[in-house]
This record gives sequence, structure tokens and C-alpha cells, in this order.
Amino acid sequence: MIIKAVKFRKDGFYSQPFVFGGEEGADKFDPNIRYRGSLQNYLIDTGTEVILVDTGLPAGTPEEAPDENSILYTGKDICTYMEALANLGYKPEQVTKILLTHKHSDHSGELKSFPNAQIFVNEEELSAAELQGIPNIVPVKFTNGAYYNFPESQKIAEGIYFIKAKGHTNGNSIIIVESDGLFYMLHGDITYVDEALYENKLSVVFDDIAAARETMDRVREFVRSHPTVYCGTHTPQGYENLEAKRVMDLDNPVPTVLAEVDFSDSKATGIYVCSICGYVYDPEEHEGTAFEELPDDWKCPRCKQPKEKFNKA
Ligand SMILES: [Fe+2]
Repeated sequence: MIIKAVKFRKDGFYSQPFVFGGEEGADKFDPNIRYRGSLQNYLIDTGTEVILVDTGLPAGTPEEAPDENSILYTGKDICTYMEALANLGYKPEQVTKILLTHKHSDHSGELKSFPNAQIFVNEEELSAAELQGIPNIVPVKFTNGAYYNFPESQKIAEGIYFIKAKGHTNGNSIIIVESDGLFYMLHGDITYVDEALYENKLSVVFDDIAAARETMDRVREFVRSHPTVYCGTHTPQGYENLEAKRVMDLDNPVPTVLAEVDFSDSKATGIYVCSICGYVYDPEEHEGTAFEELPDDWKCPRCKQPKEKFNKA
């Protein structure tokens, strides 16, 4: 069993209010503290099958150009998701299963690009706009019962489990891969950065905050009682943990390295991108209305997040 990170954006950041403020309120935290950001998903090569956990951003998603007010920045392109996969030596036709942690477009972006893959996703996620028109979806019904302290799970292959982890989205799931005595937890935004898991804080993005809290409690309990390699998709800590086989120890946090941010090359195309779901606001498609002119209570038409979650492109 080999697990690899499929890396496609680097040098991003997540502000402390964004990654910690879900329960206590963003105003309790320091916007000048910015944690490192990146985007990567994961690939599992079992020796007989190639299984993806999520499928990146869609090709063509514009890069953002953050400024001092940006509360998050997903980072610069390394390459497209599909190029990242090719660089690891895999062809789309080899992929037989895709395990989708959740609907957001930075996880579901290239679902359409794998002709031989069955796409496993929590059935509660099926109504999402991002999943319409995608063939070969297998709704996961969690028929295998509990996986340790998680009440609902489904075995996907030997040593690979799909686990219900509602909260960030209603159909959110975690993948756990058992290998060499370790539990690799490949998750979709349980936290954006590992500091949030250490500090026991929820991000400001959730469909169901009570469920997100319950999931966080279960993840922390699991991590405390099993040697877990915690692999996130929005922080370099995700692939650093994977590549070092570093077991998450909640009592001995890996020291934080803060993001170094350069705002000097901000462009002004008039286009804005939702950092949460990737929706592109182009004034040309809105009768010339500049993003800045939209009312303060305007929300992303796709994911309903407020204006402040958008960055200039
Ligand atoms: Fe997400």
C-alpha cells in the first residue's frame, strides 16, 4: 500500500479567524496570524488498484491575488490537478475508485475525467450542484456499522474505510487507510490547518456546526487512541505528515511555521473567485456590475458564503 500526495497549489495562507472562529466567532482571533496553505489531494496505490481521495480543482480555475484583507488564499498553481497526477506516473484510465470526501470544487473538480472509476460519496452529498451530471456515482450508505469510535462506516477495500464525518458539509466523510500499523486519516476539511486540531477549534465553514463539533470530538478521540497520520488537503502539514509518517500527538504539537506573504503582485482584473467553492464572479457576466458594488449581504450563488470569502483574481 502506497499513499501519495497529489500537489497542485502552494504558498497559500489561512488567517486565524477563518480557521479558528467557527464556534467562538472570527472576531476573537488575530487576522494577522496566517497559517501556511497549499492544496493537495491523495492517491492510494494498493498494488492492485489505484484509488483517489478527491480530484482537485477543475482545470482553468483562476489563480487568486490576495491582499492584506484576504482571510484566506488557496495559493499559486503548481500545475493542474491532472498534470500533478501525470507527474506521479499515473494515467486517468488506471483509476478504479474515487473516494470523495465532500462536494466542494477544490475536492470534486475533475470527477468527470476518470472513465473507469466508480465514485463513492456519502448519499447526503448527492444533491450538490458540483455532482450533477457526473456518471458512475456509488452512493455510500455506511452499511458496515462502527469503525472504532466512529458510528458509521463502509469498507471500500482491504484496509480502506469510508467514514461518516458530517459537519463541514452534510455529506462530509473521512477515509482511513490502515498500513504498517498506522492509521492514515485522509480528510476533507475537518480542519484546514493542523493547529486547529491541536487547539480544538472549528473553522467558519460548515453546513452543520453541531455535527462539525461532534466530528471534531470523534477525530480527536480517535487520534488520541490510535497512531494516526493526519493528512489534510489545505496545508503543507498534510503531505509533511504523510511523507515523514509522522504520528499526530495532540499534546506535543509540531511547531507552527507561519506563512510569509507577499502582496506585491496583486492584479486587478475585476474578476473575483470564491475561495471556498471556486465560483468565479466576472462582471462581464453580471451586466458590468463590479464586485465591489455588490451589496454587503450578497452571497456566493453556489456556496452561500459572504463576500469576504472572495479574492481578486
Ligand atoms: Fe471544503
